[in-house]
Amino acid sequence: MLDKLSDLEKELQSITFSSPAEVEQFRIKYLSKKGIFSSLFEEFKDVPVSEKKETGKKLNLLKQWAIEKFNSSKDSFSLSDNIAEGTDLTRPAFPFSSGSRHPISIVRNEIIDIFGRLGFTVSEGPEIEDDNHVFTKLNFAPEHPARDMQDTFYIFKHHEEDSDPRDIVLRTHTSSVQVRVMQSTAPPIRTISPGRVFRNEAISARAHCIFHQVEGLYIDENVSFADLKQTLLFFAREMFGKKTEIRLRPSYFPFTEPSAEMDVSCKICGGKGCNVCKYTGWLEILGCGMVHPNVLEACNIDNSKYTGFAFGMGIERLAMLKYQVNDLRLYFENDIRFLNQFKTAF
Ligand code: DAH
Repeated sequence: MLDKLSDLEKELQSITFSSPAEVEQFRIKYLSKKGIFSSLFEEFKDVPVSEKKETGKKLNLLKQWAIEKFNSSKDSFSLSDNIAEGTDLTRPAFPFSSGSRHPISIVRNEIIDIFGRLGFTVSEGPEIEDDNHVFTKLNFAPEHPARDMQDTFYIFKHHEEDSDPRDIVLRTHTSSVQVRVMQSTAPPIRTISPGRVFRNEAISARAHCIFHQVEGLYIDENVSFADLKQTLLFFAREMFGKKTEIRLRPSYFPFTEPSAEMDVSCKICGGKGCNVCKYTGWLEILGCGMVHPNVLEACNIDNSKYTGFAFGMGIERLAMLKYQVNDLRLYFENDIRFLNQFKTAF
């Protein structure tokens, strides 16, 4: 009987179907009550005991295989049966329109990726913050003009008699996340904090009351201004191309000393001067500096042991330079004609 089963196996393997009727004939011939498998099971009764195990196994496997062959062939025909006659299956499919990421997300992800390669993690903090994290711990003097109602959106608390009603604000910068990280993490710290910030500014082509920043913070023993410069040079070249040059101009921020603003060479004119860089050959992209010892102390970090650098940049501004967008409001209007232009970036 084993020989018979081998022949049957070859026979079954050679069978192909070209119509549902052939599949049905197959079922009748092999799998019906009076079919070949039924009679083989009858014959199986007379197989000598010594061959029963092997023969039974083979017979069962073969039948199972025949059932599967029948089922899958039946399904494939019933699928094509449902397709209306005359349908051209070779016609190109309907154009499938994919979405696109928002340019601010694209640039934010790119910044995260570049600093990620230098070992910076990502940390986030709340958009609704207290004055302490946004200003006080960052060494803003009590009467510093940045706390003025004109720049900061204050949320008035239902205050008790003795609390400061101006205590809760919409954060004006992501530097507040620095404070939270320093308060909760022991050095070494190497992190960037992307997020939304809010300022009470008139909306124009160059300013908005909501925008996005990325803050950077690096704290360890022996961190120097040279580390800051090299880190930012690496970033600028990854972001704007290998030929990009940077320059650092002295500046002032309450939370860094010394402080600087960083320009990158204008990639539109290659530094020669054009209307985008206002004929200077340079474009300002961020503020930075060495973390002020008062800030370290306010966040319980030993400023005799640790030093660090910080930087902060506006994502909209970077995206405007990268994609040569001349009106900031385009990022907020969600005009599909604008967004569609970023389909190839991700
Ligand atoms: N927070 C500053 C702003 O919003 C940007 C900034 C400047 C952040 C210098 C820093 C820094 O960490 O060191 O304009």
